[in-house]
Amino acid sequence: MQQRGQWSGRLGFILAAAGSAIGLGNLWKFPYMTHHNEGGAFVLVYIGAVLLVGLPIMAAEVLLGRRARRNPVGTFLALGEGRPGGKVWGGLGFLGVSAGFIILSYYSVVAGWTLHYIVLAIQGKLASLAMDPSALSTHFSEGFLADGTQQVSYHLVFMAATVGAVYFGVKGGIERVAKVLMPLLFAILLFLVIYSATTDGFSPAMKFLFRPNFGDLTTSSILEAVGQAFFSLSLGMGAMLTYGSYMRKDSSIPRSVVEICFLDSLMGILACVIMFSIIFTFDLEVSQSATILFTTLPTVLIQLPLGSFVLTLFFVLVAFAALTSTVSLMEVVSSYAIDELGWTRQRATLTMGGVIAVFGVLSALSFGANATLSGVNLFGKESSLGVFSSLDYLAANWLLPLGGLLIALFVGWIMSPGDVREELEEGHRPLGRQFGFLRFTLRFVAPIAVGAILFSVIFLGAEYQ
Ligand code: TRP
Repeated sequence: MQQRGQWSGRLGFILAAAGSAIGLGNLWKFPYMTHHNEGGAFVLVYIGAVLLVGLPIMAAEVLLGRRARRNPVGTFLALGEGRPGGKVWGGLGFLGVSAGFIILSYYSVVAGWTLHYIVLAIQGKLASLAMDPSALSTHFSEGFLADGTQQVSYHLVFMAATVGAVYFGVKGGIERVAKVLMPLLFAILLFLVIYSATTDGFSPAMKFLFRPNFGDLTTSSILEAVGQAFFSLSLGMGAMLTYGSYMRKDSSIPRSVVEICFLDSLMGILACVIMFSIIFTFDLEVSQSATILFTTLPTVLIQLPLGSFVLTLFFVLVAFAALTSTVSLMEVVSSYAIDELGWTRQRATLTMGGVIAVFGVLSALSFGANATLSGVNLFGKESSLGVFSSLDYLAANWLLPLGGLLIALFVGWIMSPGDVREELEEGHRPLGRQFGFLRFTLRFVAPIAVGAILFSVIFLGAEYQ
C-alpha cells in the first residue's frame, strides 16, 4: 500500500479546501441568484444557511475524512462498521463519488469557456469583440457554443489541466497549485473591488446587497439560499471529506472550517460587489442565464481604464478558481480508485480522468452542436434541458442535498458522540458549548432544512439552482 499523502500544514489544507469551495459557484451563480432574489434579504439568509447548515456539515465531512483517512466509500464502510446500518453506509460514499464524476464532467465544459476567452485575449480579439456587445453575444452563442470542435477541445484541455494537478498528488500537485493560485485570486479580486469602488454604481450596489428588505423574501429564495450554500461550499459529495482525509492531526478542524466558510462567503460577496457596481453603473438589464459572465460583463469591463488588461485578468481569475474546484472533484474519484481498487495515483488519475473527459463530451456537445444531445430531457420538465443542464439539475437538486442530509444524519445519529468529539478536539482545545451547538445542528437543524429542500423538489416541483 502506498503512503497516504498529507497537507504540509494547516495552511495547505485551508488553501486547498478554499480553492475547492471558491469557483464558478461564487463568481457566476451567486451574483446571478442574488440579483434574481432581490439582494439584501437573500444575502442575509444565505449567510444564515452557511452558518447553520454549511458550517456543521463541512465540519462533519472533514472530521469523517480525517478519522477514517480514506476516500468517501472507504470512510463510510470503516466508520459504519458495527453501527446501525453497517456496511450499507458505503452506498453513501458511492453516491458521493458518482456525484463527483457527474459534476466534474459538465463543470469542466464551462471552465473550458474561460480558456476560450483567455485565448481570444492572447490573440488580441477579445477587446474588439467586447467593444461591440452584439458581436460578442453572437460570437458566444452562435459561433462558440454551437461549435462542437471548440466545445470539446476546450473541455479536454481543462480536463488535462485538472488531471495534471491531481496526478502529482496531495503535496506536489494540489497544494502547490492552490498555494500559488489562491493568493493570486484574492489579489485580482481585490483589485477589481477597488476598481468598482470608483464607479457610480458602487453605492447603489452596496445598498442593494446590504440593506435587507424582508418583503422581498419568498419561500423559494430561502430554499435557493440553502442549495447555493451546498454547492458553493463543495458539500454533500465527500469533496471536503476527501480533503479532510489528508489533514494532519495537529491541525484544528473547527478553526479551519470557520475560516473556509468565511473565505468562500467573502469571495461570493466580493464578486457581487464587482458585478452589481458594474450593473448599476451602466444600468444593465441582466439576462437570466449563464451569459452575464461571458457576454455582458466583458462589454463593460472593456470600457474601464486599462480595460483590455482588466478583462484578461478577470478571465484568468475565473479559470484559476474553476481549476482549484475541478481538482477537488477529480481527487474524490481518484482517491476512491486508489484506496478501494488499489490503483496507483497515476493510473487512477489518468484512467478516471479519461473516462470523465469522454463522458463530458456529451455535455460539451449539448449547446447546439448536436441536436439530440441538446434536446435530451431526462426529467420531463417543460422545456428541453440538454445533457448539460439535466446533469446539473440531477447533481445540484438531488445528489448534493441527499448526500448532505445523510452525512449530517450519520455524524449526528450514527457515530458515537465521543468519537465525534474526540476528532473535533484533536488539534484544537476542548470544546465546550460549541460541541453541543454543532451536534444539535447536525441532528436537527441541517436535516430539517435539507429535508425541506428535497421535499419541495419532490412534491412541490420547486427548482433551485
Ligand atoms: N464549490 C465549487 C464552486 O463553487 C464547485 C465544487 C467543487 C463543488 N467541488 C464540489 C460543488 C463538490 C459541489 C460538490 O464552484
